Amino acid sequence: PWSAARAAEIIAAHTGGEGPALPILHAIQAAFGYVPEAVEPMIAEALNLSRAEVHGVVTFYHDFRRKPAGRHVLKLCRAEACQSMGANTLVARAEAALGIALGGTTADGLVTLEPTYCLGLCATAPSAMLDGRVVGRLNESRLDRLVAEAQR
Ligand code: FES
Repeated sequence: PWSAARAAEIIAAHTGGEGPALPILHAIQAAFGYVPEAVEPMIAEALNLSRAEVHGVVTFYHDFRRKPAGRHVLKLCRAEACQSMGANTLVARAEAALGIALGGTTADGLVTLEPTYCLGLCATAPSAMLDGRVVGRLNESRLDRLVAEAQR
């Protein structure tokens, strides 16, 4: 669980650097697994920004999670090379199999499905990442296996 005291420490450790909002947000997410909404005003105050500005940064970057993730995180690449190799169809297939939209977590808390934007595996697109392990050359059956693995 997140703690305001720990969040305050993280913020204090990063203020003073150049453009500290992103490093702070990354550190918050690394510590808590997501960026709790309650941290946004803390960051705003520390950096002399408006709450809306901080909120804008959090929502602009796809990397920041607004809620705790499920036990497994399946990321599907939606950048250009993967799109041209059929990523959209695979995204729709994963969403249907899990009964959630991109960005969602299954009701049992097992799987979070997230978009990602280039895993550096364009040569073997379409690509995915399950709990940090990258997988290339996805097709329907390989995706189905990944989804099944994530549900275990
Ligand atoms: Fe998907 Fe690069 S575009 S890995």
